[in-house]
Amino acid sequence: MASVSLRNIRKNYTRDVTVIRDVSLDIDDGEFIVFVGPSGCGKSTMLRMIAGLEDITGGELYIGETLANDIHASKRGIAMVFQSYALYPHMSCAENMGFALKLAGTPKAEIDSRVQRAAEILEITHLLERKPKALSGGQRQRVAIGRAIVRNPKVFLFDEPLSNLDAALRLNMRVELSKLHQELQTTMIYVTHDQVEAMTLADRIVVFHAGLIQQVGSPLDLYENPSNLFVAGFLGSPKMNLLAGVMLECGDGLASLSLQQGMIVSARCNASHLRVHDKVTMGIRPEHIRLVSADTAGALAAQVDLIEHLGDVVLAYIEIPGIHEVLCMKLPGSAPALAYGDRIHIAFPPEHVLLFDHEGNALPRLPA
Ligand SMILES: Nc1ncnc2c1ncn2[C@@H]1O[C@H](COP(=O)(O)OP(=O)(O)O)[C@@H](O)[C@H]1O
Ligand SMILES: [Mg+2]
Repeated sequence: MASVSLRNIRKNYTRDVTVIRDVSLDIDDGEFIVFVGPSGCGKSTMLRMIAGLEDITGGELYIGETLANDIHASKRGIAMVFQSYALYPHMSCAENMGFALKLAGTPKAEIDSRVQRAAEILEITHLLERKPKALSGGQRQRVAIGRAIVRNPKVFLFDEPLSNLDAALRLNMRVELSKLHQELQTTMIYVTHDQVEAMTLADRIVVFHAGLIQQVGSPLDLYENPSNLFVAGFLGSPKMNLLAGVMLECGDGLASLSLQQGMIVSARCNASHLRVHDKVTMGIRPEHIRLVSADTAGALAAQVDLIEHLGDVVLAYIEIPGIHEVLCMKLPGSAPALAYGDRIHIAFPPEHVLLFDHEGNALPRLPA
């Protein structure tokens, strides 16, 4: 077990291709950290630098107290699990799992007992003598994880390990990985582009975009207090609704803004560094839009454009006359039935309205 520290890490593949710009992060011993971000933002590159599979162009990597930049991959005490499993087809599962130990000259009895123990944890004991081709995708990925476990690493790295599995199996394996972390209590760094995986697995999520960390925090903190528009739009499904507006009142109390067509919305945000008429973006999550009666203060008239019944929830896509963006609202499955064309009234509770300045940075929210 070990902590991992990244100090001003930079990665250039060529002189003018900078993939990681300047990344600093302290990962605690035993923590489950998830790197999330869109495809191409540098997540795998970051992980491969930690593993020692890629040179670090600038900055320092510490594993525990040790500066690890120049330590060979095989000496870092790290085990990595890849999306592609990367099992040897001619070896049985047991041989695949024990192979790294065999190369390191570990005695056979020791290898056998570690393979056995890992197989028990992963519930694949009955598969140990099979070759990979006789396994399902999920079983192969378990063997690949087993191969990492037997090495008893200080840190596990996972690069999109569930992306090749179908949806039901992904969910299953996600739960298994959480349990594995509870059992082993080893530091885990997990890369995914899937925000649901990030939200469900992480102690802390690190959101990457364009080679920089956008925000680090617990899943709920990032969900509730995104520090900028990128994080706000990335986490949450369906996405946060975002609407353009201009500031009307910018005190350090309740702020108010005007949407297109002069509709007025209040927000419990501190807008004291903005000025009247400054352009802003307001954000509200689908589950926070309220269905209200026409005489409610601040009610906005809207029309239902599309309804999706998901069983437990209903998604209603609605249009406000004069406002360009279609809004999504999430209602309980038991809510009164809405239908295409219905005319409704909605309200945005000020405590759930987020504001972002013209650079996309979130305004601080006022305590409730
Ligand atoms: N060996 C390489 N040489 C040059 N560019 C690369 C190499 N590997 C990755 N890149 C580029 O670095 C960027 C980040 O890639 P990667 O770390 O794989 O992103 P992610 O895992 O977040 O999808 C991409 O633009 C990719 O094209
Ligand atoms: Mg990748």
